[in-house]
Amino acid sequence: MSQDALASLMAQCRERVEGVLETVLPAADASPERLHEAMRYAVLGSGKRVRPILAYAAAHAVGLDRQRVDTAAAALELIHASSLVHDDLPALDDDDLRRGRPTCHKAFGEATALLAGDALQTLAFGVLAEDSHNTAQARIRMVALLAQAAGAAGMLGGQALDLASEGQQLDLDALKNIHRHKTGALIRAAVGMAPLASEQAPQAQADALDHYAACIGLAFQIQDDLLDVEGDTAVIGKTSGADAAHHKATYPSLLGLETAHRAAQDLVDRALEALASFDAGADPLRWIARYIISRDR
Ligand code: IPE
Ligand code: IPE
Ligand code: MG
Ligand code: MG
Ligand code: MG
Repeated sequence: MSQDALASLMAQCRERVEGVLETVLPAADASPERLHEAMRYAVLGSGKRVRPILAYAAAHAVGLDRQRVDTAAAALELIHASSLVHDDLPALDDDDLRRGRPTCHKAFGEATALLAGDALQTLAFGVLAEDSHNTAQARIRMVALLAQAAGAAGMLGGQALDLASEGQQLDLDALKNIHRHKTGALIRAAVGMAPLASEQAPQAQADALDHYAACIGLAFQIQDDLLDVEGDTAVIGKTSGADAAHHKATYPSLLGLETAHRAAQDLVDRALEALASFDAGADPLRWIARYIISRDR
């Protein structure tokens, strides 16, 4: 498949999950309106939808129908959106802008933003539990995977480590550990949904996909940290950004820009190696791996 064809396939997946999200989110004009509006605001902005797209791409790689990961894709994005709402709160990163517009708490107030983040999480587990395209067994496994990835042993644990690291001098292993949890865990879950749902994917395939996901998960956060310094939205300039203002430990701050770029590239190379035994069905996953470090937002 050509790079253009892959890009348009991925754009279709983005539209597809946005359709699912639209149907599962509560209506803005239903009570309690303000909570519903805040939930919709947090989810239906201009997100890249990387985690849902990964879920669809992994389904493609293991030959599973897209329908079978529709709900998982939406649930992943709901958890992700909830994490962004809470990540931006004054108690955490204290950010005013998200996806080019005011953060949820700037638009709706802190109390509503807290509730909206919580409600997005419970919605994620609810829709996954009620997914009519998968067996009860598969659904339970997907709920458990998402719970593990999002919770204290995964993303939220990573957020806690991230907070505790502010102002600390970390070594590379400690930094990797934070990234693996706060960002890597959900990305691994995204790639893991299709093999779980398929019930036919051989274990070796699932393991290879998991290795791929661990590599791109780390690369994703390195690129996020690089964009904080080098991207259009970097607030201070070429040598620092919002992360520096908050004294965050990041790849660029620890290793310098050039080495951080090289580390991200090495991880993408390793991710591609992990897919060596897959045929062209894994091309969408290969495309995403390259996209993750070439993206500019
Ligand atoms: C940003 O995630 C937060 C991280 C976990 C690094 P994304 O870069 O996926 O954000 P959106 O969803 O596209 O806005
Ligand atoms: C966010 O990491 C990770 C999660 C939300 C779980 P960052 O704090 O670096 O994300 P941005 O830069 O605010 O999007
Ligand atoms: Mg943060
Ligand atoms: Mg943040
Ligand atoms: Mg960041």
